[in-house]
Amino acid sequence: MREIVFATNNQHKLSEMRAIIGDRFTVRSLAEIGCHEDIPETADTLEGNALMKARYVKEKYGYDCFADDTGLMVDALGGAPGVYSARYAGPGHDSVANTRLLLKNLEGTTDRSARFVTVIALIMGGETLTFEGAVEGEILPVPDGDGGFGYDPVFKPRESAVSFARMSAEDKNSISHRGRATRKLIDYLSTNSI
Ligand code: IMP
Repeated sequence: MREIVFATNNQHKLSEMRAIIGDRFTVRSLAEIGCHEDIPETADTLEGNALMKARYVKEKYGYDCFADDTGLMVDALGGAPGVYSARYAGPGHDSVANTRLLLKNLEGTTDRSARFVTVIALIMGGETLTFEGAVEGEILPVPDGDGGFGYDPVFKPRESAVSFARMSAEDKNSISHRGRATRKLIDYLSTNSI
C-alpha cells in the first residue's frame, strides 16, 4: 500500500484522517518517520504555512506528504486572528486566553460575522496541490457549550442553531472547514492512488 505522511502528531487529527482515507494509503505521523523537531510555520497565509510544512517533510525526509493550517477570520477585526489563531493571546497562551481576548476585542460590536478556513497542502509524486474548506458563522457574545476545542464554544455556524462546542463530532465534521477541505483531499487521493 502507498504511504503518505500527515505532517502532524495530533492523534485526534490522525485517527480522523485514517478513518476517512481507509485502506487507500497508509498514513504516517511525523513521529513515525522520526521527525521530532518543530516545523517552521512562519508564513503570513494559511496556504503558505501548509505548503511550508509539507515541503519541509518532502525535502528533509523524502515522503509524499500533506499538511494543514486553519484560521478563524472575524470581519469586524479585519480578518484577525486569521493565520495567528493559535497564538492570538501571545506565545504560551491557550485556547481559553485566545477566546477571552477575542470576546474582549468584539465587545460592543454588532457585526459578529466570521469564518473558519482550513487549507491542506499535498505534495505527491512531484505534484503540489492545495485544497480549501470554509464554514461561515458568527462569534457568540458568551461561550456556549464545552465540547470540541479551540474557539468552538464561541463559533456558531450559519447552518446550525448551536455552537460547534454543542455539536457531535460527526455533525461538526459534516459542515466544518476541516471536514470540507479533507473531503476535497480524499476525492483527489481516491482518483490518484494507483
Ligand atoms: P491548526 O492550524 O489546526 O493548529 O489551528 C490553529 C488554531 O485554530 C488552533 O489553535 C485553534 O485554536 C483554532 N482552530 C482550528 N480548528 C478549529 C476548530 O475546528 N474549532 C475551533 N478552533 C479551531
